[in-house]
Amino acid sequence: MTTDNAAPDRTLVGIIGGTGLTALNGLESTGERIVETPWGEPSAPLVFGQLGDQPVVFLARHGHPHRIPPHQVNYRANLWALNHVGAKVIVGVNAVGGIHGDMGPAHIVIPDQIIDYTWGRGHTFWEGDLDAVTHIDFSFPYTESARRILIESAQALALSHSDFGVYGATQGPRLETAAEVARLERDGCDIVGMTGMPEAALAAELQLDYVCLGLVVNWAAGKSDHIITMAEIEAAIDQGMAGVKAMLERSVSFLGASPQ
Ligand code: HPA
Repeated sequence: MTTDNAAPDRTLVGIIGGTGLTALNGLESTGERIVETPWGEPSAPLVFGQLGDQPVVFLARHGHPHRIPPHQVNYRANLWALNHVGAKVIVGVNAVGGIHGDMGPAHIVIPDQIIDYTWGRGHTFWEGDLDAVTHIDFSFPYTESARRILIESAQALALSHSDFGVYGATQGPRLETAAEVARLERDGCDIVGMTGMPEAALAAELQLDYVCLGLVVNWAAGKSDHIITMAEIEAAIDQGMAGVKAMLERSVSFLGASPQ
């Protein structure tokens, strides 16, 4: 598959924006495209453009405007569409709750593992009229070389960040109970979010490089002395999203420079 606008020596980088990132300012847009897929409609038109010298394609995971809840995102259509237009490496930006004591609001986490607690989502391309049953390896859900690039950019920008973490992917759209978060913690989860899966697994099925850029927007349920409010979440997004955007601007050209 040829890419729509990538220079021959550059790999098209896909960015899936989550809560708080429905558009990428700084992106010099070169056009939008509605992609039809065998799995239905992606969340939004794909937006093509340049971040600095790097061609990128941006997709708003929850639609633009933000209207699709985490359990109703068509993850298969989103990943299929990005693969179809030639993206080879995908950065999934996710708002998450912090469980680990160091991972409070506005902290950035580049997780290295994930545990899937979601259910009932279209979570594989390998179903239907198959010639053979396929089981992909998913031991390490995030591409290490891409993680390193994000970690280096967080370091260079002196952002408060963690270069490890287990992402617990929950169903939503409600937030968790305190007991559920205590269980996630016992399971080894450091952060909790609703959109990490099946996105990461679908990227793996398509053999795309995939990395998560997590922005902590609240302490997870029971991890602070108050209940979680949307006002708190919005304040953390305001505080932390500039750092996320700076990381994307800095890292995309490295992500797109060579095969991961
Ligand atoms: N739990 C699940 N998903 C989230 C949270 C949370 O606390 N914060 C942001 N997304």
